[in-house]
Amino acid sequence: MHDMPDMPPMPAGKTAPSAALAPVHALPSGAPLPALRKLANQSRERGAFRATLVAQPHALELLPGTQTPFWLYGDALSTAPGSPIDGPIAGPLIDVREGDTVEIVFINRLPQPSMIHWHGMPVPPEQDGNPSNPVEPGATRVYRFTLPRGSAGTYWYHPHPHMLTAEQVYRGLAGPVIVRAADDPLAEWPERHLFVTDLKLAADGAIAPNDMMDWMNGREGQFALVNGARRPRIAVARDERWRVWNAGSARYLRLMFDDGRRFEQVGTDGGLLERPRRDLTELLLAPGERAELIVRAAADGSASTRTVLTAGVYDRRKMAMMHGSLPPEPACALADVEFASGVDTPGAGTQVHRALPQHLRTVASLGEPTAHKSVVFSEKMDMAAMHRPGASNHGMPAGMSFMINGASYDPARVTLTSRRGEVELWSIENRTDMDHPFHLHGTQFQVIERELEGVATPEPFLAWRDTVNVQPGETVRIATMQSMRGERMFHCHILEHEDLGMMGALKVT
Ligand code: C2O
Ligand code: CU
Ligand code: CU
Repeated sequence: MHDMPDMPPMPAGKTAPSAALAPVHALPSGAPLPALRKLANQSRERGAFRATLVAQPHALELLPGTQTPFWLYGDALSTAPGSPIDGPIAGPLIDVREGDTVEIVFINRLPQPSMIHWHGMPVPPEQDGNPSNPVEPGATRVYRFTLPRGSAGTYWYHPHPHMLTAEQVYRGLAGPVIVRAADDPLAEWPERHLFVTDLKLAADGAIAPNDMMDWMNGREGQFALVNGARRPRIAVARDERWRVWNAGSARYLRLMFDDGRRFEQVGTDGGLLERPRRDLTELLLAPGERAELIVRAAADGSASTRTVLTAGVYDRRKMAMMHGSLPPEPACALADVEFASGVDTPGAGTQVHRALPQHLRTVASLGEPTAHKSVVFSEKMDMAAMHRPGASNHGMPAGMSFMINGASYDPARVTLTSRRGEVELWSIENRTDMDHPFHLHGTQFQVIERELEGVATPEPFLAWRDTVNVQPGETVRIATMQSMRGERMFHCHILEHEDLGMMGALKVT
């Protein structure tokens, strides 16, 4: 197919020879959280957002004295050979408004075909970066779409090439999108953005390739970066609205503060909830998911306190090589957070504490479904095939199949068919021994209930999502409706599983 680096063949009877990894402390930590760079709007017209986004190789010095070759998104101004891409390892933030017409000129300067997928956004199918719409190396295309009313939320963009999504994302290609509403009740709140990505760095500074365990369980490097930084410092001196993205391939973020402090959730993938979820001490963000949180400054007059924003232990039941499962990985510190008391707040007129409205917006139910769809996750491991020397396909090991409805993704096949405008109930059943985050393109959906061990639990609140975790043996039921004709993808958002076939095509007629 295309020219691409291959993984060395596996020696018989051995697991993947994991390259020596850079020690965690080799990467400096403790710097203030870098702000996301913003993609500048080149249009002066009202309601229009126009920009250029280039995907290109670009080396950054992460380990002192060593260059790490990333693939990064940059704007048109940073495309001259050798010019630095200024800012953290995350694509620039695309900050737009409901009603905007967005026009992105995409230039592919990678050695592989690529495209931009607008994760979670209601863009027309032919603008949504399907694997069937690649932009070849050296080629350019324009993505054009208008953001409808009600689409405000926290989204992201990343490549989606057939069997190469995991690699392009782990090399650095992923960026945040915010769509804002004119009547956002939290518009006045100070915002903080935490774009969490994964990095697996070899000792020599190279980005480590996937080994067998990465393919099986999804890749998790030794680093969870926030806005491209390891364990940055965050000072919260005012009540803040946080937007958090899980843009890692496979790491589950069970978000919590080490001192057990409470926070509120005000939004999911597709924007605000109807009312805040108060007194949370933790929130699970599966790969691909986003959330909006309210994080409070220390009470007036109280002393400052420090704590750690942590991804707590989550047992997603990673598979061991032969059988059984691996122990869950230990908790991982994402950021050091200092909660300052209002006294330290600089600048008169800066409001420290804010009251959160009881009602954020109306989230209407989609209504009674008139059609049913069934999605079944399954997997098959052929150990003999996995260990045959040279048994790999574009760096992907042979013998490992991740399937939807009994088959691995085939670009020539339609998995399911839907009718435009019809409310559907989808049952997503996980018949494997590990968690898989289900993701559907083109629209937001509502989780109706989750059934585990014969007990169905109705979802306690209405919310718009595009990604939902499905535990082993669990069936999650969602209500959804597609509003545009064309091809949509649905898949596990552990990107290695997606590349290994846990993806289906939905034809909307
Ligand atoms: Cu974020 Cu089809 O993916
Ligand atoms: Cu998507
Ligand atoms: Cu999966």
